[in-house]
Amino acid sequence: MKIIVIGASGTIGRAVVDLLEHDHDIVKVGFKTGDFQVDLAAKASIRKLFEDTGAFDAVVSAAGLAKFGRLDELADEDYQLGLANKLMGQINLVRVGRKHINDNGSFTLTSGVLSQEPMPGSASISMVNAGIEGFVRAAALEAQRGIRVNVVSPIWVKETLEAMGMDNSKGMPAKQVARAYQASVEGQWNGEVIDVRRFV
Ligand SMILES: NC(=O)c1ccc[n+]([C@@H]2O[C@H](COP(=O)([O-])OP(=O)(O)OC[C@H]3O[C@@H](n4cnc5c(N)ncnc54)[C@H](OP(=O)(O)O)[C@@H]3O)[C@@H](O)[C@H]2O)c1
Repeated sequence: MKIIVIGASGTIGRAVVDLLEHDHDIVKVGFKTGDFQVDLAAKASIRKLFEDTGAFDAVVSAAGLAKFGRLDELADEDYQLGLANKLMGQINLVRVGRKHINDNGSFTLTSGVLSQEPMPGSASISMVNAGIEGFVRAAALEAQRGIRVNVVSPIWVKETLEAMGMDNSKGMPAKQVARAYQASVEGQWNGEVIDVRRFV
């Protein structure tokens, strides 16, 4: 399969590429790095990306920005960041990508555990993650030509906690998180919110 991985240089994206590149043709996409660049927050940039890559069998998105912060701290633009980037950016990958994806292809987006298990400071991120999951469940009902749409919901990744100098004992290694993306791409799921803890 020809698989476009958005966020291919990231902690999760790198692990997804490592897992899939033996069996598939991977196109690496980043904001500044990769074979192609895209800005998720700009629909025109997504249009250009898919015109440049040509037809493909799958998109994996392991990217998306949203702001962590308590209600007292979050400004309008902090909410807008998540809405424009992580939420509408990934939704637009599906909206625009539908015209370029091959029959029986798949889209795999990324949300996060904070949609279902919030914590103080996660209001903006929880909102965005829940929005992505709602979109995926509904969009999958309208999939045509055998196209599937799923979202992977990661818990904290071990390497991310390490990089932040936090206790990594409850984190999941990126290599293990990547298996959820593999299951979405290579399996038959459609409209599924895939909790990475299924892959422990
Ligand atoms: N890591 C975790 O613990 C964790 C937990 C739950 C959910 N998530 C979610 O998983 C996703 C990936 O997280 P991560 O930690 O692997 O990310 P990361 O290591 O920070 O990597 C981010 C990736 O996204 C790309 N990127 C940055 N801005 C972009 C933009 N505007 N448009 C398109 N691509 C852009 C970067 O490309 P360049 O390198 O080229 O700039 C990079 O490849 C995010 O949605 C995050 O919220 C992560």
